[in-house]
Parts: sequence; structure tokens; C-alpha cells
Amino acid sequence: MTGPMLVVRDLRTSFRTSGGVVKAVDGVSFGIDRGEVVGVVGESGSGKSVMAMSLIGLVPEPGRIDSGRVLWKGRDLVRVPQREVRSLRGREIAVVFQDPMSSLNPVQTVGRQIAEAVLLHRRVPRQAAMDLAADAMAAVGIPSPRRHLASYPHEFSGGMRQRVMIAMALVNEPDLIIADEPTTALDVTIQAQVMSVLDEIRQRTGTAILL
Ligand SMILES: Nc1ncnc2c1ncn2[C@@H]1O[C@H](COP(=O)(O)OP(=O)(O)OP(=O)(O)O)[C@@H](O)[C@H]1O
Ligand SMILES: [Mg+2]
Repeated sequence: MTGPMLVVRDLRTSFRTSGGVVKAVDGVSFGIDRGEVVGVVGESGSGKSVMAMSLIGLVPEPGRIDSGRVLWKGRDLVRVPQREVRSLRGREIAVVFQDPMSSLNPVQTVGRQIAEAVLLHRRVPRQAAMDLAADAMAAVGIPSPRRHLASYPHEFSGGMRQRVMIAMALVNEPDLIIADEPTTALDVTIQAQVMSVLDEIRQRTGTAILL
């Protein structure tokens, strides 16, 4: 394959509200190679989150992509059927959201939730999915991962919950992890730890990261 794995060209996403049209993403272009880390910088409200959502077909109502291309391994995700984007999401491209408390299910063990991410995309026995979940938890530095398979989100600290989110993102060995401010809810020391976990994963697996 030639060229970057992801090429974004002149992407424009807007919200049509009663107050008028909000141009949230207004002509963004960039590329990401395998194993590369790309950081998105901008003030609050500049469109970082909407851009991340636009890449993977998750623009919330009443938003829409007006124009541009999101070329993933040569295929334009803006134009392929939603079903195809959905099947890529979590498998080839994984997302880590900002707030793990609202993204994790409070009444299900973390092991089960990570295993579900596996079972969504792969036909493996449930026990094998649990084994992969434990491996992913070990990879993000959660101590005693076997034992913690049976833990619930509220039993973890904020930093550990964010690690669970990253474990869920990387369990299917995606080519790209999109992390939209994965550490803003955390204190500075924990932020640094989560970032170094992401960088270790990149070095070990060659996963590209969009931050
Ligand atoms: N559901 C929505 N309806 C209408 N406008 C929206 C919606 N979501 C986002 N916007 C608008 O899109 C613009 C970009 O928002 P976005 O959340 O992407 O900013 P951001 O750069 O991620 O900010 P932050 O750093 O605070 O997370 C803002 O003007 C916001 O008001
Ligand atoms: Mg944001």
C-alpha cells in the first residue's frame, strides 16, 4: 500500500440549529501513517471532538459532514455504507472517549465489557475473549488483571478506568486509536501515566494514535 493509512481531505462538518449553521469542522486536511502519533490542538469549541466523530461516522444529530474525504486505506468512509464504517469501528479504528464513567456500563464487570468488544468482531469462544481481555488489561498496566476481570467500574480509580477504556480500544489490535482528550478528567500524574501507556502500545504494536 502506498501513502498514509488515513488521509483526511478538506473535511467540513456543520450543525444546522435553530440559531443558524455552526461550522464545527471547516476544511481540515491531514494524514496519518502506520505507527505515527498525530496531535490535534485547538481551543475549546474549535471542533476537535466533532472532527474525531466525523472520521468514524459518529457525528451527533443535527450534525452532518458537508464535504471532504476520509480515506481509510484508500476507501472513502464519508461515502461507503454506514454498515461498513460500523464494522471498521472498534476493529481497525478504535476510539477512546473522554469520560470513562459515562462510557462504561456500571453494572457489568470490566472483563465482560472488554470481552464483548472482542466478540463484536471475532468468532472466538467466550473464554478466549476473556483471556484476551486479561491480556489487554495487563498491557495497559492494570495490576492483577486476571483478578480484576471480575471488578466493576466503580471499584477502579479514574486513572484505572481510563486504562480499562484503552484496554477495550486495543483488545482488537486496531491500526488506529483515536483518543479524544483521553486524560482531561484525570490529574496530571495520572495523565502522564496514561499517555505513556499509549506510547508503549504504539511502540510495541505499531498502532497509530490520533490525539
Ligand atoms: N450536538 C451539537 N449541536 C450543535 N452544535 C454542536 C454540537 N456538538 C458540537 N457542536 C458545536 O461544534 C463546535 C465544535 O465542538 P467540539 O466539541 O468539537 O469542540 P472541541 O474542540 O472538542 O472542544 P473541547 O476542547 O471543549 O472539547 C462547537 O461550536 C460546538 O458548539
Ligand atoms: Mg472536545
